[in-house]
Parts: sequence; C-alpha cells; structure tokens
Amino acid sequence: MKKIILVAAARPNFMKIGPVVRELKRYPDLFESIIVHTGQHYDKNMSHTFFEQLNIPLADINLGVGSGSHAWQTAEVMKRFEEVVLKERPDLVVVAGDVNSTMGCSIVAAKLHVPVAHIEAGLRSFDRRMPEEINRLVTDAVADILYTPSQDADRQLLKEGAVKEKIVFVGNVMIDTLENQLKEVKVARFYKDIGLVKGNYVLLTLHRPSNVDIEKVFSGIWGVIDKISQDTKVIFPIHPRTRKKVSEFGFRYKSFSNSIEEGVINLLDPLGYNEMLSLTMNAGMVLTDSGGLQEETSYLDVPCITIRDNTERPVTVTNGTNYLAGTDPENIYRAYKNIINGNNKRKQELKYWDGKAAHRIVEHLKQFLFI
Ligand code: UD1
Repeated sequence: MKKIILVAAARPNFMKIGPVVRELKRYPDLFESIIVHTGQHYDKNMSHTFFEQLNIPLADINLGVGSGSHAWQTAEVMKRFEEVVLKERPDLVVVAGDVNSTMGCSIVAAKLHVPVAHIEAGLRSFDRRMPEEINRLVTDAVADILYTPSQDADRQLLKEGAVKEKIVFVGNVMIDTLENQLKEVKVARFYKDIGLVKGNYVLLTLHRPSNVDIEKVFSGIWGVIDKISQDTKVIFPIHPRTRKKVSEFGFRYKSFSNSIEEGVINLLDPLGYNEMLSLTMNAGMVLTDSGGLQEETSYLDVPCITIRDNTERPVTVTNGTNYLAGTDPENIYRAYKNIINGNNKRKQELKYWDGKAAHRIVEHLKQFLFI
C-alpha cells in the first residue's frame, strides 16, 4: 500500500486533482490518498462548491493559509505543509498547475526526499514577471515525475535539460473533468436560466495582476469591453481581486440580479464549475486572461480571445480556437470583430485531451511506485 498526498489549493487546481483522486480510489488495495487543501482559496464559490460539484471528497487536511503577499503565502504553505509531510510520511506528493501552493509544497516534499509528481508540467509563458512562471520553473526543477498535457511541454522540458525518463505525456487532465461534467443538468440549463441565448453573448474573465492591478492598463481593457457590450451582451463572473479593483477605479458596470442587460458589462459573483461550463460552451466567444479557459474553449470549439501578450499553452493557438490579442484596446476590438464576422478558427487535433489523462497517470504510478 502506498500513501499519496494530493495538494489542492486554488480554484484551477480542483478540476485537475479530482479525476486523479477518483482514479486512485479504484485501487483501494494499492493506494491510500490524502487530500491536503492549503487554503489559498477559501471563499465558498472559489473552493467548496468545486468539491461538491465535482464529487471530490472534502479535504482530509486544511492548512487554512489564506491570502497574503507571495512570500508570506508561500512561506506559510511551506511551514504548515512540512508538518503534514513529517507526520504522514507519504510515498509521493502530487501537485498540479502553477499556483504558489504548487511551488511551496513541491519544495517541502523534495527537501524531505519525498518524490513529487507535477501535473501540467512543462508549460512556459517565457514571461518571468508572471508569478506563475516562477512557480512552474521551480516546481518542474524539483519534481521527479513531469506529467505533461501536450507535446510542446515535453520538448520544452528536454530543452531545459530535464531527464527524459521523468517526462510522461499523459494529456490534459482538466478535460477529464470537463467531459465528466457534461451530463450535469446545470451545465445544460444554467445559461438559459439566466436568460441567455446560445452564441449571442460574450463571456469575460479577468484576474491577472498585470491586467487588473494597474489602473491605466485595466481602464483600457474595460473601455473596449464596455464598447463591445454596446452590441453584444457581456457577462463577467468576477474574481474577488478584480472586483476590488473595479470598485477602486470606479468603472461603470451592472450587478446581475435577474437579467442580463445590453449596453453595460454585467458582473456576477464567482460561479461554480457547472455554471461556468454552461456559460463557456454556449458563448459566442470568450474573452479571458485565464489559462484554463484557453484550453476549455479550444476543446469545446468556442472562439477565445486571450487578453495577454503570451501564453504558456501554445497548443491552444496552433490547434485550438485561441487568439492572443495582448492588452491593446484596438487589438482586442479587431479580434472581436473578426470573430463576429465569422473569421474564427476551428479546433484541430488536441492529442490526449480525451478524458483518459487521469487513467494514464495512475497506470504510470503503479509502475513508478511498485516496480
Ligand atoms: C491565484 C493564482 C493564479 C490563478 C488564480 C485562479 C498564484 C500566484 N496565483 O491567483 O495563478 O490563476 O489563483 O483564481 O498562486 N481572494 C478572495 N477569496 C479567495 C481567494 C482570494 O477574496 O477565496 C482575494 C484576496 O483578496 C486575495 C486575492 O484574491 O488577496 C488574490 O488571491 P491569491 O490566491 O493570492 O491569487 P489569485 O489572484 O487568486
């Protein structure tokens, strides 16, 4: 019997950890899994709702770290996670994605000589001003198993000198979750329940500090999206950090109560996974700075405009539906018009984005831990 700790921390981690936990639980004689939630995200709709909707067992241990500066948050995660690893003595720690907790927990495990498996290894934006890029580089440098979502990630890791045997191309585990949730009634209905019509609205998400923390940048983006809202409905489930900035900068918006209005950006509280999937798959297009949404829209064949200069997920541009528009309002508007005029690309092959990534991970773990 091998003991595995899976680290869950922030919203984008839950859909990556869920399918792996489920797959591990199919082999109760081989694996004991322990979910450790660092508490990086803690609001109900940023955390608990995802466990409920995705049928993930509630965390066995919650470290309750909460928000703070990068150094403070990472240090607290490390201090508290070290105690857990010392007490539990796991055979493996699994981390996912690129948040501060991913990096913090990887360092702790590696220094205690516990092997680390990184889900979503090898992604690079080549922009070191992004905190996530630092988290990716450090995590991949100390991890013993590098589970990659796409083959560009394999190539990048080899370029950086990673040992070939550590790299395992398993595909995109987030798509396992997406496929699994498609049967949910809420996914089919939510967009209709709030009065939207398929293909007739723009879905917006923004939370990157580089987009929302600087007033000049954010007001440029807000201005062009406000203009878009004059001819297409815009719906914006808003991250708590972004909401604070919208109030601080005094932007014009409407809070959603029971109908979506034209001519103004409609703000909603953060949504659960099923509600968000419903809005994504039925949108005319998605405007975002999220990493996960670039992948989800590509898989669902929904046009996506990414409000960033770079992406760590280039396969969504080459084989998916993603356009990189940067933050320049004119570029964003041009990309929007192109899609409205029907000049959008269609998805091509996305290898191993097939709902079986968690299965491949657990098959590999059987070999890694038992042979
Ligand atoms: C984090 C990740 C980012 C990921 C994003 C998804 C890092 C460096 N960043 O960014 O990669 O794309 O999660 O959401 O790890 N807050 C709340 N409630 C919560 C969580 C956060 O109100 O449940 C507010 C707090 O004011 C907090 C701020 O949001 O200070 C930022 O939270 P934090 O976890 O530090 O980073 P995110 O912006 O969420």
